[in-house]
Amino acid sequence: MAAGDINAGKKKAAVCASCHGADGNSPSDAFPKLAGQGAGYLEKQLANFKSGERQNALMAPMVANLSEQDMADLAAYFASKKMAPGAVSEELVKQGEQIYRAGNKETGVPACMACHGPNGNGVPAAKWPKLSSQYSTYVEAQLHAFAKGERANDPNSMMRDIASKMSEAEIKAVSAYVFGL
Ligand code: HEM
Ligand code: HEM
Repeated sequence: MAAGDINAGKKKAAVCASCHGADGNSPSDAFPKLAGQGAGYLEKQLANFKSGERQNALMAPMVANLSEQDMADLAAYFASKKMAPGAVSEELVKQGEQIYRAGNKETGVPACMACHGPNGNGVPAAKWPKLSSQYSTYVEAQLHAFAKGERANDPNSMMRDIASKMSEAEIKAVSAYVFGL
């Protein structure tokens, strides 16, 4: 993988701003926040959109002409920013916290914390994404996509296995929880 240049990435990121915001804090929850996400994870997603391993109609044309260096620069830039925090209702947060920290032993859902970290910051070196402060609608949509196999770029199908075991209520609750985490 090429080493990313933050300043070069900043210039290249102008075309991403309309959806993801100039600093990666997307103005709308229709688009995931990229700010503060791990560079390795971001770069992998860009490569996956380009190869078609991850499918999305809006992202496909964005990455079509990006070189490996472009992707590394863009990833380095967004990773260098700070994700803006979110806030949600207490009830959902409680239920979500339970799943996030302990999983559901009856249905075999593991604790999200095991990979996405106690503070939701993920494990950048392992390309495990940050979930804290990410928009709930986006997190929920990804869990649904993993559960249905529509998103299938997760190593060893770990997220597909997990999401397919989750109830609707659990998906809603954990998505709400991580936004405020
Ligand atoms: C998702 C980067 C431009 C719409 C993503 C993701 C990355 C990314 C890394 C995955 C985030 C994650 O997995 O957490 C970029 C870069 C751009 C760019 C570097 C500029 C070169 C745009 C634009 C739009 C857009 C202009 C809107 C027209 C979306 C959407 C998703 C997404 C809808 C979610 C895809 C899904 O649900 O799977 N983007 N993006 N992006 N981006 Fe972009
Ligand atoms: C990706 C949620 C448990 C490993 C993701 C994403 C979400 C998510 C929403 C997509 C992030 C994005 O697009 O920005 C959850 C929840 C969990 C959970 C709610 C608990 C119920 C785990 C566990 C592991 C794991 C236990 C490790 C065994 C990963 C990896 C990815 C990922 C490696 C990145 C997939 C890729 O490269 O595209 N997770 N996760 N997750 N998760 Fe989890």
